[in-house]
Order: sequence, then C-alpha cells, then structure tokens
Amino acid sequence: MRKFLVTSALPYANGPLHFGHLAGAYLPADIFVRHQRNNGNLVRFICGSDEHGVAIMLNAEMAGQSYQEYVDHWHKDHAELFRQLEVHFDFFGRTSAKYHAEETKDWFKTLFDAGLIIEKTEKQLFCIDDDRFLADRYVEGTCYVCGFENARGDECPSCGEWIDPIKLKNPRSKVSGSTNIEVREAKNFFLRMTKLEAEYTETFKQKSVEKQWRKLVTGYVNGMLKQGLEDRCITRDLDWGIEVPLPDQPANKRIYVWFDAPIGYVSNLKQYFKGANIDEDYRKDWWQANDVELLHFIGKDNIVFHSMIFPMMGIGSGYMKFVDDVPANEFLTLAGKQFSKSSGWYIDAKEALDIFGVDSLRFYLTSIIPESGDTNFSWGNFALNYAEFGNKIGNFVHRSMSFIYKNWPDGLPGSAFTQFYQSGEAQKIDEKLKSVKELLDRKLIVRAQSELLNLGQLANEYFQEQAPWKQCKEDSAKAEASLAGATIFVLALTVALEPFVPSVSAKMKQNFSALFNKEGHCEKKEFRKIYQNGIQTYLPAFEKSGFKLHSPPKVLLPRLDPDLLASWEARL
Ligand code: MF3
Ligand code: ZN
Repeated sequence: MRKFLVTSALPYANGPLHFGHLAGAYLPADIFVRHQRNNGNLVRFICGSDEHGVAIMLNAEMAGQSYQEYVDHWHKDHAELFRQLEVHFDFFGRTSAKYHAEETKDWFKTLFDAGLIIEKTEKQLFCIDDDRFLADRYVEGTCYVCGFENARGDECPSCGEWIDPIKLKNPRSKVSGSTNIEVREAKNFFLRMTKLEAEYTETFKQKSVEKQWRKLVTGYVNGMLKQGLEDRCITRDLDWGIEVPLPDQPANKRIYVWFDAPIGYVSNLKQYFKGANIDEDYRKDWWQANDVELLHFIGKDNIVFHSMIFPMMGIGSGYMKFVDDVPANEFLTLAGKQFSKSSGWYIDAKEALDIFGVDSLRFYLTSIIPESGDTNFSWGNFALNYAEFGNKIGNFVHRSMSFIYKNWPDGLPGSAFTQFYQSGEAQKIDEKLKSVKELLDRKLIVRAQSELLNLGQLANEYFQEQAPWKQCKEDSAKAEASLAGATIFVLALTVALEPFVPSVSAKMKQNFSALFNKEGHCEKKEFRKIYQNGIQTYLPAFEKSGFKLHSPPKVLLPRLDPDLLASWEARL
C-alpha cells in the first residue's frame, strides 16, 4: 500500500471561485485522490481557506465588514461549492484559526533559531497622510517596466512583473489616494533563501528528474535559479495576520500571508487527525515520512511558492520531506477571455451546478483541465462533451441494461459469462481499464478521460456487432453470452467512472448490488478489487451466480434542455 499526502491550493477567502480554479487545482486533485483510493492506497487530502493578506483586507473594508466576518462568509461559500462539485477533502480548514497560528509560529521560531530568518532594515514606502507603511496592495502606481498606470505594490497586472514598490513611479495610497509618500527605513524579517539555495537546488534537480515534473514547473524554477535567489521579506505592518512570535515586536508586525498559507496544509492535517481521533503523528507519520508521496495541486500562478519557497521552509525547519511533485496547471479562459467578476465576464459556478447538475459539469471541466497549455470554457463545447459522454457511455449502459431487464427478467445464467470470457473480449476491456489507470497515475487526467471514452466506444461497437436483439430470435444462448459481455462492459465502466463522476458511478453500482450482497461481500471492497485487478478476476462470481437486475435501470444522464443552455450562453 502506498501513502499519499495530497493538497489543493488553499483558496483565498476573498470572492467566488470560478471554473478556472476548479479545473486547475481542485478537480484534478479530487480525481487523482479517488483513483488512488480505488487502488487501495491510503490518501490524506487536505485543503482549507487562505484568510490573510492585504487583498482580503481591502475587500473586507470595502464591504464594511470586519476581516473575520468577511472571511467567515467566503469560507462557508467555498466549502459549499466543493460539496456541490463532489470534491471531497478529508479536511477543509482555515488559516484564521488558532491551531494554524500555533503551527505557523512554531515554523517561524524554528527557522529563526536556525538563523534562517533574520531581521533586517529595509526601505519601504510610507504614507504621511495615512501614517502607515504601504505594504503590497496598499500602494498603486505606474509600472516601471511597462508603464501601466495601475500597477499594484506586489505585481503589475498588465505585464506580470513582480513589483518592487520602492521603484513604482507616482505611487499613491490605496487607502486614501494620497500621494504624500516617502521612503522610510523599516525593520522586517527575511527568509534566508540565499542560505537554503544550495541544498534546495540539489534536491530539486534530483527529484524533478526522478518524478518527471512538468516542464511548466521545472522551466520556471530553473529560470529563478539562474537569476539567483534573494532573501525574502516575510513580515508586514498590518493589523490582520499572524503575530511574529518573538519578544518586543510592535503589535502590527505580522507574518506575510504567503509564509503562513502553505503551512495551512500542515496545520490542517494536524487538526484533522485531532478532530477525527486518528492516532497518527501529523509530522512523523506524514509530513516528514519518506514513504509518503507529497503532492501539491495548484494553478501556475502559485508555482514559486509550492516548488521553491515552501520546500525551502521545509528544508530549513526539518518539518517536511521534499515535495514529490507539483502538478501545476495552466489557465482556463471563458470563451477566449480571462474570467473577471468585476467586468461581468463570469459564470456563477454554484448556480451552474444547481441548474446543470454536477455530472455534466465535472465531466466537461475534466476534459478542459489545462494540463498542457491554456484551455477555454464554452457552453457550446460543454454541450458537445455531454453529448459524447451520452453517446459513448450513457446510452450504451441504459440500452443494454434495459434490454436485459425487459427480456431476461430471470437473469442471465452463469454459463453465459463463461462463454463471453472465451471470446477474448474481456482482455481488451482490462487493457483499456489499465491504460486509464496508468494515465491517472501520471496525473494525465485529460488523456485518462479520453481512454475512458474509448472504453465506452469499444462497448458500443461490441453491442452493435453482436446485436443481441437479433441473436435472441435465433440462438438464445448466443444472445445471452453477448448480454453477459455487455454486463461486463457496464461493470468496467462503473469502476472506471468513479474518479471522474462519482455520482454516475454510484447509480451504476446499484445494478450489481444484488450480486455482491448475495456473495455476502462488502460492496465497496468488491468494486475496488475490480478497479485494481480488472474484470477478469471477477469471472468466478458471475459464473456462480449469473446476473439479474432487480429493478429497472435508472436514467444516467438526463437530457440537456437546449433553451436553458441558450439562455446561459446569452448571459455572457
Ligand atoms: N490563496 C492562494 C491563491 O488562491 C493559494 C495559496 S496556496 C497555499 O492563489 F500554499 F498558500 F496554501
Ligand atoms: Zn507592468
């Protein structure tokens, strides 16, 4: 049994999540986790809200809410969205919680004691009218690289440059609009990347080759290493965030959000074990354990933190093993343009899930996970993808099961299965199943889904070729063998669909529950056995009991209402 510790980027509790987030960091992780659980492996799947930072403060202020009230709202909103999307974390925690502050302070102190965090005096922008230092997004000005007039103190949205606020032209305060700004000396704490660089680089090189990291990630890291690393400021003058755990600090000296956020993965695992009474050591048995495979699913804007800074914090503190893979995805656009709530270029994910249901959306979003380049969401392609799902899988399952239910009310005999297995078709099914699983192992989820559709295609071709509706008029034993074959195809699709669309798979499992109950086995285990070993290992069960449907098969994929679809398209 393998052990996996899987994380999805902690979403900012700062506004709704859109399909780009879902397809980038959450859905792929959930599919991978379900796959590994079906494989019989032990997985801890951790997420939570990222609740600090200036962006959140500014929006809370604008909404006239306290910071805590504001993040409470978005924390609940995101948890509900993940429930709807059937993305099932073991734990969805929060970085404003006390347990998280404790863990973060522990890391800070350990790194400080090791000389890997030091205090330095540095120049910062200070607004005289506001009487405060202007951290990150509290300041705006003209970008010194591209000339864009609304560059933020941390980043230029136009050219993507990582901004040094001191160099901004015409800086102005976001709080008051004041331009009465000067440069003052400020004391802050710095993470000594320069000291950690050598050990990091060596481990990174080894790991990224061994585990075949994506080029998107290695390219980025190599670029950064070539530039050379600098120590990084990890404190801010703010009144929202985790306090610096050292004596005699001003009350508004807080730890920078990007230092505490990834530690959220660690604190959330700890809190999960505590709440669920799991008697394992979150550090020794998981974060530091070399037999654990640690994976961070993220979007490409988070690469630097997950593939460099957090691993360096781990090396320095000794609190975590080196990350095994950082499957980062590119961006998803909406009909060709970036999602943007403020300009109305946006789809309400929750509402869409309410209307269209989780299955159609999960299946479509999976097909456009931006694994190897930016991808695009469009309602037209959504409809096409759903049609393909129906044609290759949904209709076949419904047609074949209904045919059996109607024409073989007493069930198919065990001998029909023996006959089917002798045809050699079963091997082909297991080969396809295996190839779906291999692709999922490599986190090539889009390709795994196409292989799944190919399995459906194979099932259709088989059914069409055999034509049991004709066979039954001449040779009923032959028809029975074909229907046994169709049943086996349905069973293979049932287990293979689980990671992608768990609800559809659950409906299909009902067709087989009598079989497993009769055998007196645990259904969940039986399905997992099939997932792991293929359908051929299940032959004896079918030979012994045959197969009978005890209730009419359910409709799997209800039709999309074209008018509804058109109205959603028109909204954009
Ligand atoms: N909140 C960040 C974002 O949405 C991601 C944080 S990931 C973690 O881009 F590492 F900090 F947890
Ligand atoms: Zn710029």
